[in-house]
Amino acid sequence: MDYKTLAHKAVEAKSNAHPPYSNFHVGAALLTQDDKLYLGNNIENSTFGLSICAERTAIFKAMSEGERKFKAIAIASDSPDFITPCGSCRQIIFDHCGEIDIICTNSKEEYKVFKTSELLPHAFGDEDLKK
Ligand code: THU
Repeated sequence: MDYKTLAHKAVEAKSNAHPPYSNFHVGAALLTQDDKLYLGNNIENSTFGLSICAERTAIFKAMSEGERKFKAIAIASDSPDFITPCGSCRQIIFDHCGEIDIICTNSKEEYKVFKTSELLPHAFGDEDLKK
C-alpha cells in the first residue's frame, strides 16, 4: 500500500475518534510488513489520564492479533499543521515497531515521512535493560 493511501486510511479511522473532552479527533493507520492494515483512533476517558491515543490503539489492536512486524504508521487529525505522535506514542512506536516510517498528515492530506529515530533520538529501549 502506498503512503498516500495509508494517509487516507488514517483520515477514515479518524471518524471513529471519541474525544468528548478535547474535541481533537485523531486517526491512525498501521501497516504490517506483510501489508495488513490496523486502524486506530483516540478514545478519551472522564479521568483524562486513562485516555488513549490513536497510534497506541492501532498498535495494541495489531499486537493483540499477533502482529509483531511493522512497516509504517500514518496519523491524521483536523489540524492544518502536520500531526506528529506524542512523546508516549513515540516510545511505544520505538519499542514495538522499531525503525518504521511515520506518516504525518495535515488537514489537506499532505504528508511528511519521518523515521522513528528522527522523532525519538537517543531512545531508551529493551537493549538498554541488558547492559
Ligand atoms: N492524540 C492522539 O491520539 N495522537 C497524537 O498523535 C496526538 C494526540 C490525542 C490524545 C487526546 O485524545 C487528544 O488527541 C488531544 O491531545
